[in-house]
Amino acid sequence: MLRSGLLWLSERAGIFRLVRTNPLARRLAARFVAGETIEDAITAVKDLNAAGITATLDVLGESVSEAREARAARDAYLATLERVAQVGAQSHVSLKLTQMGLDIDEGLCIENTRAIIACARSFGLFVRIDMEGSAYTERTLRLYASRFHPEFGDAVGIVLQSYLRRTSRDTDDLIAARGRVRLCKGAYQEPPEVAFPKKRDVDANYISCMERLLEKGNYPAIATHDEKIIARAKRIARDRGIAPDRFEFQMLYGVRRDVQLALRREGYRMRVYVPFGTQWYPYLMRRLAERPANVAFLLGNLMKESLRRRGSA
Ligand code: FDA
Repeated sequence: MLRSGLLWLSERAGIFRLVRTNPLARRLAARFVAGETIEDAITAVKDLNAAGITATLDVLGESVSEAREARAARDAYLATLERVAQVGAQSHVSLKLTQMGLDIDEGLCIENTRAIIACARSFGLFVRIDMEGSAYTERTLRLYASRFHPEFGDAVGIVLQSYLRRTSRDTDDLIAARGRVRLCKGAYQEPPEVAFPKKRDVDANYISCMERLLEKGNYPAIATHDEKIIARAKRIARDRGIAPDRFEFQMLYGVRRDVQLALRREGYRMRVYVPFGTQWYPYLMRRLAERPANVAFLLGNLMKESLRRRGSA
């Protein structure tokens, strides 16, 4: 219930206006978001790099409704890539196709995304196309398979979500096509027809897809904080002689830093997803939905803040 409520709230842009200036919300966001500027993000990446951890930078933003915003997002990515290359930071980038204009015009989205991947490739960097809600799964996979992967090969990769019923098939298709896959559980609100409602099934599907990706995939990224699944991945790799440089673990900025460092110490590759920018609200709400422990505190504070504002209006 709480998860659904939070995910519903994550799509209510109006609430962001209330939350944006709330000091507690900003503090909470600071746990999961590296800051609002490129320089904040570079500082976070450099800290990770100093601990032997690589990064992927996400310029926050999604579901843009005007071409101008999509082009601005493209330019923000181009500037980020240039800055990463300039300072020699160990980081790729991750982007969302709705941020590139998928809801406005597919041609515009392709044009913006191609510009970013071409720029990344020129610096020897890599672009991951994040996966959004299931309304976008088919189009995202189609654009990756028909446009971006054929043109840019290993400079671009995609994400699969184990909560989706279709993902087992997509995993096999992407293995056959030598696509570079990040496997995660999935962070959006989905109906039971398309996604497994039970965590047990989501986890079982994760393990099944992970096993195939580790054995036959093209440098898969195992994106999870789930210690049981991480232990399973390590066991599969050890038992089947899969060297630690044939895959990487990935986690989110601000989540399980202890596990990130432990995996690194054990000699595994670890990449952290580092979001930054002003549009942090939907991202923060999805992180809260994954672990609602902080929510009661946050909502109580927001309520007080809104009553105080009404009182003074
Ligand atoms: P699970 O939710 O079962 O959590 C396992 C444990 O991890 C928890 O018990 C807790 O200890 C810890 N944990 C998990 N989330 C936490 C949080 N927010 N705060 C504190 N502790 C937390 N999703 C998507 O739909 N599309 C995408 O493109 C991506 N991309 C992506 C990249 C990377 C690098 C990661 C790590 C994750 C994503 N995700 C994503 C999000 C993903 O789908 C999923 O929602 C989260 O990773 C949480 O799932 P876990 O696999 O960690 O397991």
